[in-house]
Amino acid sequence: MIQTSQQIHKAVQERYGRLAVESPGASCCSSDGDCCGTTASVLPADVAVAGEALDAIYSNLYTADTGWLPTEVTGLSLGCGDPITLAALQPGQTVLDLGSGGGIDAFMAARQVGPAGRVIGVDMTPQMLARAESNKAKVGLDNVEFRQGYIEALPVADGSVDVILSNCVINLSPDKAAVFREAYRVLRPGGRLAVSDMMTRGLFTAEDRANMSAWAGCVTGAEDVALYAGAMRAAGFADISIVDKAQPDVELAEQPLESGPAQLFSARVTAVKG
Ligand SMILES: C[S@@+](CC[C@H](N)C(=O)[O-])C[C@H]1O[C@@H](n2cnc3c(N)ncnc32)[C@H](O)[C@@H]1O
Repeated sequence: MIQTSQQIHKAVQERYGRLAVESPGASCCSSDGDCCGTTASVLPADVAVAGEALDAIYSNLYTADTGWLPTEVTGLSLGCGDPITLAALQPGQTVLDLGSGGGIDAFMAARQVGPAGRVIGVDMTPQMLARAESNKAKVGLDNVEFRQGYIEALPVADGSVDVILSNCVINLSPDKAAVFREAYRVLRPGGRLAVSDMMTRGLFTAEDRANMSAWAGCVTGAEDVALYAGAMRAAGFADISIVDKAQPDVELAEQPLESGPAQLFSARVTAVKG
């Protein structure tokens, strides 16, 4: 059965609300995995990724130092890549983080853009926003703010952002075309997108798509790379690059839609608002 956008938002919000409360640094317990809390247990039987391969695609090792961040922040890092390195931020820039979670990328960005720059993190899950706010107080950065909202309808002014970051979030959206339209709207001309995200070559079955624990675990919401690039192009983005982080020399943005079963990978995505 195909789920509605509201049902998908609800399933995703339930998962990340729970992880926000249970993860290290929260009042108790520990989270059940790394990126998106993904473990083999959320994978549908026909998705052929396991063990080390699963760990590798869902890992999010940063090039930049994270040692200055408290464990409350690093323990709630649920991304699948390193958009901070992709973004190559400059002092003074305004940065938007789509699906900011506990705030790890927003805090690293805030440090890099410095006091003359600022960072806005948007997330729909109240418990995540509460964690991000308490983490902000711990980190002591005042050039970052968190706003509640949907990435499909951003609470951000037109043409006001230099760089958009996102780490393992767009795959969770039921309407990726709307996410890219909104990203395009809020960027200033020449503004850039630097995104880590899960993607596939080939399509998931309707049954996999309906598996809400796999969707919320950043598996079956992932889109085929050709459709993902198509949604970016339709929104107006130029200079689109999409690579598998395990094979960064192979450009996939012009790849045709594949007919085989979905093969999942962790992607690095960059583009420009022309
Ligand atoms: C996998 S976590 C990643 C969090 C963070 N980017 C990180 O790397 O730790 C996904 C986050 O995106 C948020 N999210 C998912 N779908 C969203 C949507 N449609 N609109 C706003 N936030 C969303 C969730 O609430 C959650 O905090």
